[in-house]
Amino acid sequence: MRALLTSKTARRALRPVADLIDQRIERSVAPLRNRQRPLELLLDGTGRGPSRLPAQVHLDRLVDELGRVTGDRPGAERNVAQAFRLLMAVEALGVGRIAGGTMNICGKLSAVPLLDPPNDDILEIGTLYGMFGAALIRMMERAGRDPRLTIVDPLAGLQLQPGTTEGDDPTGTPVRGAAVRSNLAMVGPAGTRARIQQGFSGDAEVRAVVADRAYGVIIVDGDHSAEGVAADLAWAEEIVAPGGVVVLDDFGHAKWPGIKEAFDQHMAGDTRFTFLGQAANSGYLRAG
Ligand SMILES: C[S@@+](CC[C@H](N)C(=O)[O-])C[C@H]1O[C@@H](n2cnc3c(N)ncnc32)[C@H](O)[C@@H]1O
Repeated sequence: MRALLTSKTARRALRPVADLIDQRIERSVAPLRNRQRPLELLLDGTGRGPSRLPAQVHLDRLVDELGRVTGDRPGAERNVAQAFRLLMAVEALGVGRIAGGTMNICGKLSAVPLLDPPNDDILEIGTLYGMFGAALIRMMERAGRDPRLTIVDPLAGLQLQPGTTEGDDPTGTPVRGAAVRSNLAMVGPAGTRARIQQGFSGDAEVRAVVADRAYGVIIVDGDHSAEGVAADLAWAEEIVAPGGVVVLDDFGHAKWPGIKEAFDQHMAGDTRFTFLGQAANSGYLRAG
């Protein structure tokens, strides 16, 4: 029977029936596909770059990694879910986007409050649209903290990275102070009060202003070259509070080998930092 049905003659004879079935399936699936598209638009990469549709396996891996780095697995599971919803909300309402992959962003937003920094002063080196800083303020507030954010970025109209030519941003939005202010305002008074220092983290004038306090958290996410990261790590040694947390973004990312290179060299020397571990594409350090 099987041989009869799969013979050339039978296949030719059955083709009109098979075509009819295909058309019927297509007709019944097309409306479902059309109804699904608006839902996908809430989460996919159109107009922002990376898609925000993580698979279960990626979420599970992130929670495992955060559990190891922070020692709080239930907290990691809760924070990742809350950070994911927050990411959707700020990108939907804000100006521009948060840079990077979904798991890395949710990882940083989850880990920082769980690592219980010794004070609420946060420095973000490299902010792009200020949207990550805004989201971090919200996550810290959810942990009962009163975050005071300082930002350093050249705000140069686009993302500056030595040695690479970053094209127009997928959002189509220029990187400028007004965008950063709008995004920070989304998260209320702590966002409005944030200090924005325009310039490079290596500029003497920038450093003089920003080094007026010891930071409980420093996010290193500016110049991604080995030289740039080395300089930021050396500066972080001077301005981080005892027990403070340093987040090294894009750690181990194939596109930015200089970050791991600078980290390895830094850790081989005299340092206050202990490596806590890696979750997604971020490395976490604790200052002594
Ligand atoms: C990867 S983006 C930052 C993304 C942001 N932290 C986020 O999570 O959305 C890097 C930013 O650092 C800026 N930058 C480059 N060199 C810098 C430097 N030396 N000091 C401060 N910012 C720098 C770039 O122009 C860009 O805005």
